[in-house]
Amino acid sequence: MNLRLAPSILSADFARLADEVEAVLEAGADWIHVDVMDGRFVPNITMGPLVVEALRRRFDCVLDVHLMVVEPERHIDAFVKAGASRITVHAEATSHIHRALQQIRGHGLPAGLALNPGTGIEVLDYLAKDVDLVLVMTVNPGFGGQAYIPAMTEKVRRVRERLNEWGRSDVDIQVDGGIHAGTIGEVARAGANVFVAGSAVFGQSDRAAALSELRAALR
Ligand code: DX5
Ligand code: ZN
Repeated sequence: MNLRLAPSILSADFARLADEVEAVLEAGADWIHVDVMDGRFVPNITMGPLVVEALRRRFDCVLDVHLMVVEPERHIDAFVKAGASRITVHAEATSHIHRALQQIRGHGLPAGLALNPGTGIEVLDYLAKDVDLVLVMTVNPGFGGQAYIPAMTEKVRRVRERLNEWGRSDVDIQVDGGIHAGTIGEVARAGANVFVAGSAVFGQSDRAAALSELRAALR
């Protein structure tokens, strides 16, 4: 499985957003993770399609859009139009998660299913064919800089086991929240292969050194 680092711009300096993204791309970031929050699904409000559109105008990179919004199906088309490369929606955010995943794939984009820490993995039972990525939240979504929830390592292991049983070992497992050099190795060994990191990258003055440190911890 390809290991990918996806810095979250949630922790970037928004007054210098393009420079921040350029710095991490030059330092070898694989995807740029865009945390969209609506003040309802999560307490915080962040950014919308306009930010994705502005980044897309300037960068040809993977824009990995994580929708932490209620009824994501109402917003998917706008993010596709803005230039998202892939979109992840929360199982808890809609009564029609299957439809939302199909809507993303209908645009030809990979679809991600996100699970909050308290959500069981059985929701995957009938969705295994419909996902390209499972995002196991390793903190409660809403804010950067929170501590990794240790019980999520076992959850990642179980998701990987189930996907293997179903012949879907190609599905990416992404982890998001509290990922840093001290946690990334453990969760990678459990089966995660896409790592979102906000404060561990943008909270450090040297972005390139921060990414190298994460990569080194994966070895
Ligand atoms: C959490 C967001 C994360 C957040 C992670 O609600 O989905 O992407 O930016 O931040 P860190 O890496 O600082 O925990
Ligand atoms: Zn995220």
